[in-house]
Amino acid sequence: FPDSANRDEIILTDGGNRMTESMRRIKIFDTTLRDGEQSPGCSMNLGEKLEMAAQLEELGADVIEAGFAVSSPEDFESVRQIADVLQKTTVASLARATKSDIDTAFDAVQKAKKPRIHVFLASSDIHLQHKLHMTREEMLRQTGEMVRYAKTLVEDIEFSAEDASRTDWEFLVKVYETAIANGANVINVPDTVGYVTPQEMYDLIAYLKENVKGIEKAEISVHCHDDLGMAVANSLAAVRAGATQVECTVNGIGERAGNASLEEIVMALRTRQSYYQAAAGVDTTKIYKTCKKLSAITGVPIGPTKAIVGANAFAHEAGIHQHGVLNDRLTYEIMTPESIGISHNTMVLGKHSGRHAFEEKLKSLGYALSSEALSEAFSAFKKLADLKKNVTDLDLEALLSGAAKMK
Ligand code: KIV
Ligand code: ZN
Repeated sequence: FPDSANRDEIILTDGGNRMTESMRRIKIFDTTLRDGEQSPGCSMNLGEKLEMAAQLEELGADVIEAGFAVSSPEDFESVRQIADVLQKTTVASLARATKSDIDTAFDAVQKAKKPRIHVFLASSDIHLQHKLHMTREEMLRQTGEMVRYAKTLVEDIEFSAEDASRTDWEFLVKVYETAIANGANVINVPDTVGYVTPQEMYDLIAYLKENVKGIEKAEISVHCHDDLGMAVANSLAAVRAGATQVECTVNGIGERAGNASLEEIVMALRTRQSYYQAAAGVDTTKIYKTCKKLSAITGVPIGPTKAIVGANAFAHEAGIHQHGVLNDRLTYEIMTPESIGISHNTMVLGKHSGRHAFEEKLKSLGYALSSEALSEAFSAFKKLADLKKNVTDLDLEALLSGAAKMK
């Protein structure tokens, strides 16, 4: 385990990513305000979207997909206003591969410092036959015409082959070649229905890199859904195979089971930097605040065991773990709470806690007990912990009433 030997790399407490010359820079394309907002219960009003967009810019997202401008007047207005205020971040609007969608997307993003139009058209036979009623040849023609048209409006054009992961690979090569030849500078590979495995995603990206003519002129992007719980793993496998843009959402919100979660991708890249030889440009110390803000705005809570930002992500209850962490954090922590913007880890006192953590807790509350008094207090605490899920500071104060406090 070369990483765990490298203490400095793991115990980073600031928000910096240590890029070296040999590392690839991975761009974070945040689609919380577009794909994420399509999640039931996650719709946001204009003011909330502006607040989130500002937070995402502060976090350091490279691209913010601000909405799907043609989908409603409200969506148009939020893309337009976000495009107006953001200073550093590329602002994208989604558009189907039609002139009217592309025109509306252009109207919405044109004032952005860095505007992007994100054109998409499905490429799998199942979508072509049962949704678009189109042949493969017609799909290729429309891709070429619409990417070329979008390119007359803005320089930065992303093209997504919707349902790419269920598309015949030879046909997919032709689709991306057509998009690149007509001006797409980013080609996105969506796993629209969260179907593939990490190995399959790795193989697909490697195949496209090998076979798509002109691919060296374009950025390879990946967009994974979480229907089988593999969105983050699939995105990271794509990075290993050569993708340099990852599309994701804060807290993993999105259609059905959601999208790949931004905080998990960024922290995986950071914690396993040597393995991926890649880094995102996000200030990781802003992650916790960003995730909490989205949860407060949408009212959708973050589950306690959610990776990175769940309430238990940096909490230790088992005695053996508490003892280990109190001696050396590396025993049971692979990243620091400080690195995501939390001031400290927590020792939860419960029935699994040990004497060491109990004593530390009492010290933090100001109690200095003799060894004998400590033993007595510890056995009283264990009895109480058997009756209660969590023992709070107030419970401890009650348990110790009368005991001497440190000056
Ligand atoms: O999941 C998907 O295919 C999408 C595309 C529009 C990129 O969200
Ligand atoms: Zn999607």
